Amino acid sequence: MVNIGIIGVGGIGSAHFNTINSGKINGMSLGAVCDVDPARLRYCRSVNPDIPVFEDYREMLKSGLVNAVLVSVPHPLHAKIGIEALQSGLHLLCEKPEDIKVSAARRLNEAAKRSGRVFGIMFNQRTDPLFQRAREIVKSGGLGEIKRSVWIVTNWYRTESYYRSGGWRATWSGEGGGVLMNQAPHNIDLWQWICGMPAEITAFLGVGKWHDIEVEDEATLYARYENGATGVFITSTGDLPGTNRLEICGTRGSLTVEQGRLTHKKLKTDERELCRTCPESRPTGDVEVEVFEPKTKGKAHAGILENFANAVNFGEKLLAPGEEGLNELMISNAAYLSAWTGSPAALPFDEAREARYDELLAQKQAASRTRPGGTQQTHEEYSEGWEVRF
Ligand SMILES: NC(=O)c1ccc[n+]([C@@H]2O[C@H](COP(=O)([O-])OP(=O)(O)OC[C@H]3O[C@@H](n4cnc5c(N)ncnc54)[C@H](O)[C@@H]3O)[C@@H](O)[C@H]2O)c1
Repeated sequence: MVNIGIIGVGGIGSAHFNTINSGKINGMSLGAVCDVDPARLRYCRSVNPDIPVFEDYREMLKSGLVNAVLVSVPHPLHAKIGIEALQSGLHLLCEKPEDIKVSAARRLNEAAKRSGRVFGIMFNQRTDPLFQRAREIVKSGGLGEIKRSVWIVTNWYRTESYYRSGGWRATWSGEGGGVLMNQAPHNIDLWQWICGMPAEITAFLGVGKWHDIEVEDEATLYARYENGATGVFITSTGDLPGTNRLEICGTRGSLTVEQGRLTHKKLKTDERELCRTCPESRPTGDVEVEVFEPKTKGKAHAGILENFANAVNFGEKLLAPGEEGLNELMISNAAYLSAWTGSPAALPFDEAREARYDELLAQKQAASRTRPGGTQQTHEEYSEGWEVRF
């Protein structure tokens, strides 16, 4: 049985708290909760007075009340707290992103490896059947060799009131970035999960373009892959209504994910062969179209919690292993590095690039303006705004 302790019961933490507290996750119960804000602990007590509460997570780690923790505090604390939890012999489920720096995520991955504990990350959108099918098609060679991917995911709309809801939000010091660090990690993770890791990123950021914030609320990334494929990734918190459309084109056809539907166009003959052998000058190709429209969106956050419990209890394979958070962070860190230096950033990050990124981020953090703290929101259920939306 997983007896989990939640560290950080703010917006998403309170949704996790209510889900686990209501007994919806098989094989998982609530052992304790922790938050530095006494108001959050009062809320937890008002829901269930039997759950022990802690203001200091270190006390909770050594309390013996929990055998796993769910870290849902602001992202710059993820690796630090995660490492301490693993070193205390506890299993770890970390909210996304893994941290704000590749260097910190690498340290967390090393600690996880040494600990032998289960380490998962809350990439809840991996439970969506559409993205699972897209991955299966690509990994099984259904598109042949990938030529290009284009993801426009601009339906992460946020208002000024959202940015005012937490003093740490949308600051270099409190959050380490904007839309690339907070909302888009889900899609950046899926992008690399489905299409693989790029070899280079060039990025253009709109900093405080649509909101009174010091970090980016719009980003355009150009990716180049080892095989010569290219990718474009566009995200924003300033478009209303936004778009969520993924298109991947390969030598054997294409797939699009849009409006809750995956359309797979399969070429009978690989385009590379057709191009060389077809006597016509403008063939349309012999195409079979398969449409996949799942009835459900998958179990989202609850699915990741359930999978984590099964991994601890029965050794089930993790859908989102924590170590894979590093790939997502490498892409977002490379995007920042590219935008800050005005040149492409090569991947994977080596020590020199990691150090350069840390140095430039530290400069931003030193000049960061603090924002007044807001009131944390309480969520009795998972908000639709955190799920896959089209
Ligand atoms: N997977 C998802 O869909 C999803 C959705 C929302 C947020 N998140 C992630 O969850 C994390 C938290 O986001 P949020 O929106 O809930 O933020 P929030 O500000 O609403 O909540 C964070 C909570 O952490 C507490 N906290 C801060 N420092 C602490 C410490 N040292 N010890 C204990 N508690 C501490 C705060 O008091 C607050 O209650 C972020 O990393 C975010 O990216 C993930």
